[in-house]
Amino acid sequence: MGNSYIGILVDGLVYSGIKRGYSYYERVAFYEEAGKRFDLMPCFFRLGDVSPDSEWIQALVKETNGRYKLRTIPIPSVIHNRGLFFTKQAKVKLLNLQNAGFTIFNSWNRYSKMTVHEILIQNEELRPHLPETKRASIENLKEMMEKHTELIIKPNSGSLGGGVMMVERTDNEVWTVNHNQNKEFFSSELPGILRKRAANRYYLIQQRIPLAKYQGSPFDLRVSVQKNGSGEWQVTGIVGKVAKLGSYVTNVAKGGTCNSLRELVDGSPGLDYDNVYKNIEDFSIKAVKELVIQFPSLADVGLDIGITEDGFPMFIECNGRDLRITFGKAKMLDVWKATYTTPISYARYLIDLKTEQE
Ligand SMILES: Nc1ncnc2c1ncn2[C@@H]1O[C@H](COP(=O)(O)OP(=O)(O)OP(=O)(O)O)[C@@H](O)[C@H]1O
Ligand SMILES: [Mg+2]
Repeated sequence: MGNSYIGILVDGLVYSGIKRGYSYYERVAFYEEAGKRFDLMPCFFRLGDVSPDSEWIQALVKETNGRYKLRTIPIPSVIHNRGLFFTKQAKVKLLNLQNAGFTIFNSWNRYSKMTVHEILIQNEELRPHLPETKRASIENLKEMMEKHTELIIKPNSGSLGGGVMMVERTDNEVWTVNHNQNKEFFSSELPGILRKRAANRYYLIQQRIPLAKYQGSPFDLRVSVQKNGSGEWQVTGIVGKVAKLGSYVTNVAKGGTCNSLRELVDGSPGLDYDNVYKNIEDFSIKAVKELVIQFPSLADVGLDIGITEDGFPMFIECNGRDLRITFGKAKMLDVWKATYTTPISYARYLIDLKTEQE
C-alpha cells in the first residue's frame, strides 16, 4: 500500500476549470474523497501534458492550502481516462503509454453504436434485449417499415439526443415522421427529410422499443456499470430519464428530467422494483463482459437501457464516458458519489496488483 498518485486524464475544459476552482461536469471533491478512502492522491492532466520520451509529467495536484497547483511528478502507473479523444494521434499516444507499462482504464471510450450492436448480437442470451438495428439506407428503411410499426433513426455516434427521428405507422397506410418538434404525415412517398436521413450512412435505423411511461412520457435508464475494488464488474447505480412531455428522446440535453428508478417503478402498477433492478443488473453485467473482450481497458460505462411496460430490459446504447450527472440531477447523492468512488477503488486494486507482481 502507501500513498501514491492516481492519474485522472481530463479534457482541456475540465483541466482549465480545475485551475480556476470550477470543474464543469466533473466533481473534483468526489475524486478527493475517494482518494482519501483508498490512499490515493488524484492528479489531473491532459493527454498533451504527456511527452513521449519522459517518465515525468506536470499535473495539477492539491496543495495543503486547498488549491490545485502544477507539480512535476512521475507519470502515475494507473490512469483513469475521463477525456474524449478523437484523433488517430491521440489513440497512438494512449497505446504507447500502455505499451510502456502504464495502465490506462477506459483508455479508448468512443465506440460506434453499430460496432457495439454487432458485438452484443453474437451472444444468444443478449439477443432478445437488442432492438433490430440496421445501417441507414433507403432499402433498409423500406424493409424495416414492413417489419415494425415504430422506428428510430439516429446517428451512429455522439448526438446527445440531437438528430434522432421517430417514424411511426398511424394506420395501415399513413405514417408520421417526428423530428424535433415537427410532425409530418406521409403514405407512399417518403418526405424529403426522411429520405435524406435514411440515405446517410452515418445514421442507423432501429426498431423503436415500446418504452414504459411515467406520467404519460416514455422513460429509459442510465445504468452505471463499473469495475470495483475486487476487479469485478458491478452495477453502481441506476437512474431514470423521462422524456419531456410530447418527446420521444429522454436526453437531459433535450429537456428530459431525471428520477430515481424507485419513483418510476412506483408509478407503474405492473412493475416490481427488485425484479426490474435484478433483470437490468443481469443484462448489464452480461453485456459489459461481452464488450470487454473486444475493448480490454473497459472499466466504467453508462448504459442506456429501456424497459417495456412489463419491465423487460432493452438495450439502447453504451456510453464509453458516462458524465454521471444524471445521478446528481435525480438527487441520488450517495450513488452519484459511488460512481466516482468505484473507479478509484478499482485503481487501488490495479496498483496493488502491480506492486505484488514487481
Ligand atoms: N430503439 C429505440 N427505442 C426507443 N427509444 C430510443 C431508441 N433509440 C434511442 N431512443 C431514445 O433516444 C434517446 C437518444 O438515443 P441514444 O441514447 O441512442 O443516442 P444519444 O444519446 O443521442 O447518443 P450519444 O450518447 O452518443 O450522444 C434515448 O435515450 C432514447 O430515449
Ligand atoms: Mg444516450
